Amino acid sequence: MRTPRSSTADLNQPEEILAHAGTRRLIDFSQPAGLLLVSVLPFISDAADPGRIVATLRDALAPGSYLVLAHATDASRPVVAQAAEKVYNSSVSAQAQMRSHEEILRFFDGFELVDPGLVYVPLWRPDPGADVSDDPGKFWILAGAGRKP
Ligand SMILES: C[S@@+](CC[C@H](N)C(=O)[O-])C[C@H]1O[C@@H](n2cnc3c(N)ncnc32)[C@H](O)[C@@H]1O
Repeated sequence: MRTPRSSTADLNQPEEILAHAGTRRLIDFSQPAGLLLVSVLPFISDAADPGRIVATLRDALAPGSYLVLAHATDASRPVVAQAAEKVYNSSVSAQAQMRSHEEILRFFDGFELVDPGLVYVPLWRPDPGADVSDDPGKFWILAGAGRKP
């Protein structure tokens, strides 16, 4: 029997992802690794406890590992963002939710946030001379990276 590819795993089941033979074959958990949660946590509802999911993955990582996370936020445009979220969720089965800066920051519990912190994505270490918007909040996505001490 073929084992399912780890890319088809359900983030709601982090223990299964960690125990999967494909994961164990590809990642040496005794060494620092990168955990990329890029625009995926909006699809994990509060009821599914995304904080617990991130903590479960974090606890499996060796010291020196990094979490890179990007998450849609309604922080800069709450009224229009909440309306957009409602329209989106009324037309798709994969329900998504935006979160506040504070809620997203909490996913970094147990990590040391690296500079420049949790910021709108164009502000995260733009290339020198890059044309950074004077209204970065219009991108609706916060991004950050944290190191597990
Ligand atoms: C907006 S895309 C981001 C994809 C990629 N990280 C990127 O930045 O291009 C959201 C991804 O989350 C995945 N996803 C949604 N719910 C998931 C779940 N419960 N478990 C694993 N992946 C999930 C979707 O399959 C999709 O690939």
